[in-house]
Amino acid sequence: MHKLNICITILLLALLASCSQDAKKYRIGVSQCSDDIWRDKQNSELKIGAYFHDNVELRFAAAYDSDERQIQQIDSLVGTGIDLLIVAPNQVSTISPAIDRAYDKGIPVIVFERKTNTKKYTAYMGADNYEMGHLMGEYVATRLNDRGRIIEVMGLKGSSPAIERHNGFREAIAEHPGIQVVATLQGDWTEPTAYNIVKQWLDKNKDAGRIDLVFGMNDRTAMGARKAFKEVGGALPLFCGIDGLPGENGGIRLVQDSLLDASYIYPTHGDQLLQLAVDILDGKPYEKETKLMSALVTQDNARVLLMEGEEIMRQSRNLEQLHEKASQYLDQLGNQRTLIFVALAAILLLLALLAGIYMYYLQRARIQDERIQMEREQLDFYTQVSHELRTPLTLIEGPLAQLAETPDVKHASEEASNLFSIVRRNTHNLTQLINKMLDAQVGGTVHDLNAHLETQNLATPVPVEDNKPDEDASTVLIVDDNADIRAYLRTILQDKYRLLEAEDGKHGLDIAREQVPDLIVSDVMMPVMNGLEFCQQVKKDLVSSHIPVILLTARALERHQIEGYESGADAYITKPFSPELLLARIDNLLHSRHQLKDLWSVKTASEPVEAPATVAAPAPTPIEDAFISQFKKIVEERLSDSNLSVEDLAADMGLSRVQLYRKVKALTGSTPVDLLRKARLSKAQALLQASTLSVSEIAYQVGFASPSYFTKCYKDEFGIVPGEARKPN
Ligand code: FRU
Repeated sequence: MHKLNICITILLLALLASCSQDAKKYRIGVSQCSDDIWRDKQNSELKIGAYFHDNVELRFAAAYDSDERQIQQIDSLVGTGIDLLIVAPNQVSTISPAIDRAYDKGIPVIVFERKTNTKKYTAYMGADNYEMGHLMGEYVATRLNDRGRIIEVMGLKGSSPAIERHNGFREAIAEHPGIQVVATLQGDWTEPTAYNIVKQWLDKNKDAGRIDLVFGMNDRTAMGARKAFKEVGGALPLFCGIDGLPGENGGIRLVQDSLLDASYIYPTHGDQLLQLAVDILDGKPYEKETKLMSALVTQDNARVLLMEGEEIMRQSRNLEQLHEKASQYLDQLGNQRTLIFVALAAILLLLALLAGIYMYYLQRARIQDERIQMEREQLDFYTQVSHELRTPLTLIEGPLAQLAETPDVKHASEEASNLFSIVRRNTHNLTQLINKMLDAQVGGTVHDLNAHLETQNLATPVPVEDNKPDEDASTVLIVDDNADIRAYLRTILQDKYRLLEAEDGKHGLDIAREQVPDLIVSDVMMPVMNGLEFCQQVKKDLVSSHIPVILLTARALERHQIEGYESGADAYITKPFSPELLLARIDNLLHSRHQLKDLWSVKTASEPVEAPATVAAPAPTPIEDAFISQFKKIVEERLSDSNLSVEDLAADMGLSRVQLYRKVKALTGSTPVDLLRKARLSKAQALLQASTLSVSEIAYQVGFASPSYFTKCYKDEFGIVPGEARKPN
């Protein structure tokens, strides 16, 4: 039971664990220096990249171009326990301490797009801003046919793209002496700042003359400058920017709409950036420096690039919707899984409960069985003890009762008489005590011996007379292994019955078969063959089946008595018994014996057929019936044989003369010879009435050797001579 519970608990825990257990999550912190459409595009690409990895969690932070805020955000991202940091530092040197702190904690750092002056980073990814500035410078020179006046509006001071783009641009322009940079204005990547500084410059330099082109370091800067120029009025110069984003306010559309003259695609590649992060976290090989490729956007290619860019955006949006749906399904699946696990757990609990109940009942049944078995053993033990105690008690109490009636005791001195009374009284007390004790030990299961004892008068004296039984007395076979009991029974029975003795069932059976006694008194517990088996054998055998059997035993339990009757016993008397009870029982059994007196009923003229004397007696058993039918058949077949002897009849029945004699006598009350004569006379009577044969002829025909003897016998039987039987009534 205990083990089962442990198993179920483990199973449940495993189930719960499988419910909640996910692969280890990679928590990736993304620290953006700004918040604008370029950053938005990149962030959404990072998210899409994460869709391809089940175990990535992104944590975004945007510093809105503030160093302090970005430093604080990096520290707090590290504090939440990120596994990797992606950072676009606002300026080259200002953010480095925060990056160092993250790196020193063992967190891999990817610097992207903007550079830092610390060496403590794991990888860098970004486009080449110098090259971009240089290419833009060359484009401008070409666009202006190497002649013209331009203004450069810078990105945020101290940020690496601003520095590098400026250097590239100026170096390219320097190659073209016809191009003159009229002003280099300090912006900060935002449109409002660009507008303000350009406006201020224009206001201050009203006489500066014509400006042919403004290079804003990103598209927003270029558009801010354009706004300022538009306000001032006059012919607008050309505006060039960088970023070249697709979408509504993106640089590509601005170029296509001729608001900008050119732009430069500044690659975002968020998905590629995410893959690099996962590779690092997975411990896979990766590039330390990744340079992203880029391209110029002009009036010539803006249309195609816009189409391509917007198609990509559309696909991204589809992807996002798909992901949204998928995660909804996954959520549902998760709920269903939880439901299934809960149901499973409930079923398991129920099973455990049922198993527990089942085992409890099993255990209870086992305990009950054991108790019953123990009780049975105890009972058998007490039965055994009872037998051991009651037998000697019987042999003390009985003889004492007999002794009490002898002249010696009756006329003994007063002192001797008193002593004798004390002995008798105490023997009786001891018997009662033992009975009570045994009853108490085995509870209500032992036959109520006390009640039984009260009905018996143990003190009833048995007359001790020296009479010998007469010749006709019935024969009783005593079967008991205890010589004292046999001797005691002898003293009780010898005056009335002729006795036979055997010390066990096997011998008893031999004697019963040979001598065919009228009754058997047998003990139950005996060596070699016990009384039950013996009784069964007696009742099975054709020769002895009719003999009444009294089982005499100390096995007082009801179930023992039932066993006794089942073996075929006619009576069951428990020890200690009263001699009178035994005598009465024997007498009763011998007299109620079933006797068939009408085997060959012989009718006289005046008397009706005698009714069978067996009305009140128990019906004969099938064995007896068969025996009698067979006997009748043989007698009738051989009736006419005047030499027919009882030996011949016995031989025909497969029995000895004695066996046949005793069996027939027991069953019918008549001897075989008597029955043979009766059969002959009965047949003769029938012939006298139905045939015309002479009396002599009839006498010979029914087996009489002499007609005169026939006449005598006939007269003896019927009271008339055969001739008279012929007269009509
Ligand atoms: C976006 C942005 C872009 C520019 C880049 C330089 O935040 O300002 O417009 O090209 O950053 O780092």
